[in-house]
Amino acid sequence: MSKFIINKSYKLNGRIEVSGMKNSALPILSACLLIEDNVEISNVPDIKDIEKMFLIMKSLGVKIKKTSSNSFIINAKNINPENIDKQTMKKFRGSILLLGSLLKKFKEVNLPEPGGCIIGNRPIDNHLEALKKLGVKLEEGRGEYKFKAENLVGNEIVIPDFSVTGTENTIIAAVMAEGKTLIKLAACEPHVYDLCSFLNKCGAKIKFGESCHIIEIEGVKKLHGTSYKIIPDQIEAGTYLVLGAITRGEILVDNLNPDHLDSFICRAKQMGVKLKINENSILVKDNPNLKAIREIKTYPYPGFPTDLQSPIGVLATQCLGTTIIHDSIYEGRMGYINELIKMGASAIIADPHRSIISGITKLYGTEINSLDLRAGAAVILAGIIAEGQTIIHNAEIIDRGYEKIENKLKKIGVDIKKIDD
Ligand code: EPU
Repeated sequence: MSKFIINKSYKLNGRIEVSGMKNSALPILSACLLIEDNVEISNVPDIKDIEKMFLIMKSLGVKIKKTSSNSFIINAKNINPENIDKQTMKKFRGSILLLGSLLKKFKEVNLPEPGGCIIGNRPIDNHLEALKKLGVKLEEGRGEYKFKAENLVGNEIVIPDFSVTGTENTIIAAVMAEGKTLIKLAACEPHVYDLCSFLNKCGAKIKFGESCHIIEIEGVKKLHGTSYKIIPDQIEAGTYLVLGAITRGEILVDNLNPDHLDSFICRAKQMGVKLKINENSILVKDNPNLKAIREIKTYPYPGFPTDLQSPIGVLATQCLGTTIIHDSIYEGRMGYINELIKMGASAIIADPHRSIISGITKLYGTEINSLDLRAGAAVILAGIIAEGQTIIHNAEIIDRGYEKIENKLKKIGVDIKKIDD
C-alpha cells in the first residue's frame, strides 16, 4: 500500500512528456505470442499493468529482454501454457487480451476469469461470442473457462457493445485464422488501430480505418518479426491537459497525437480552456474564466472517452455553472465524486451513470481514496489545487497506468511525495 501527500501547488510551468499507450501496449504484447521471430517494441510504458503482462508472458516461457528504459525484445518461439500464472491473471483485467493468441497457439486452454479495477459490471460475452464464431468451443466452470479451438476459421462477427478488448481479441484470433473475417461494430480507438498497424507490419492483412467500425482481415499462415513503436497515451495526455487547465501557469504536454483527442479538445475549448495545438504537443495556457457546459457524455471512440470522465469532472468543479457528467459506458465510475465532495466540491451522484457538478468551488485538502486508476489520477489533480494538504490512499492503483506520475508532476512544480507503507 502507498499514499501520495500533495500540498497545494500554485503556479505550474514546464513540459510534461506523455508515455506510450497502456491500452495499446497490452494487446500488442499479447499478439507477440503469435510470432516466432524476435519482435522489438519501443515506447512501452513503465507501469504496473505492463509488469503484470510480462509476468504472465514469462510464465509461458516468453523471453523478454530490456534494451532501454521503454524498449524490449520479445521472443515467443518456445512457449507452453502449463505453468501460466493464473494468480496474476485473476487480478488483472488486461489478461483477457491473451485469450486470442493463446487459443491460436495452443488449441486448448483453461483460463480464470480476469479481475481488475471495479468500475462496473464488465462482462466478456462480446469476446466469447466472437471467438465462438471463429470456431472456439467453450465450457464454463466455477471462475474458470475451458476453451478448445482445433481450427480457427474466419467469419462475419458483430461486436454489439463496441468492446475494445473484445475487438482486439477477435483481431488477434482472426489474423492467422483460415480465410476472411469481417468485424462489424468494431471498436476504433487509436489503440485498436495501433494493434492493426503492428500486426500488418508483421505480415498480417488487415484493412482498417476506411469505414468507421469495420475491420476486414484476410488470414495469413505466418507472421514475422519487426520493430514497432507504441503510440502515445491519449488518456495520460488528457489528464495532464486538465491539470494545465485548472492550475495557473503554462504547461506543454508533449509527445501526443492531437488527432486522438478530438472530442476531449472540443469539450475543453467549450469550457474555456486555452489550448495551443501543435503537431505533437499541446500548450495549455492560464485562463481563470472557465465555464460549465450542459453535459459531457462518454461514448465509444471517437466520442468522449470514459477514461477521461473523472479528470474532466475535476475540471467541472472549477467551471462557473452546472455540468452533468454522464458515463454511458460504465455504471461504477462515479465514486470519485464522493471523494471530491469530501474536499468541498458541490456535486451529487444522480444515478450510477450520472453526476451533477456545480462550480466554481474551492477544494480543501483532506484524506481521500484512490478508487480506481482514473479516479486516482483525478483526485491527484484535485489535490494539486486544493488548499492545504491532501493525502491519497491506495496510490498504488495509479501506478497501474501512469508512468512515474510523481516524478513528472514534480518537474513542473507540484509538491507531491509518495510514501510506501
Ligand atoms: N461490454 C459488454 N460485454 C463485453 C465487453 C464489454 O457488455 O463482452 C460492455 C462493458 O460492460 C462496457 C462496454 O461494453 O459497458 C465497454 O467495455 P469494453 O469491453 O470496451 O472495455 P474493455 O475492453 O474491458 C478497454 C480499456 C478500458 C476502457 C474501455 C472503454 C483496455 C485494457 N482497457 O476496456 O481502460 O475504459 O476499453 O474505452 O484496453 C483504463 O485504462 O483505465 C481502462 C479501464
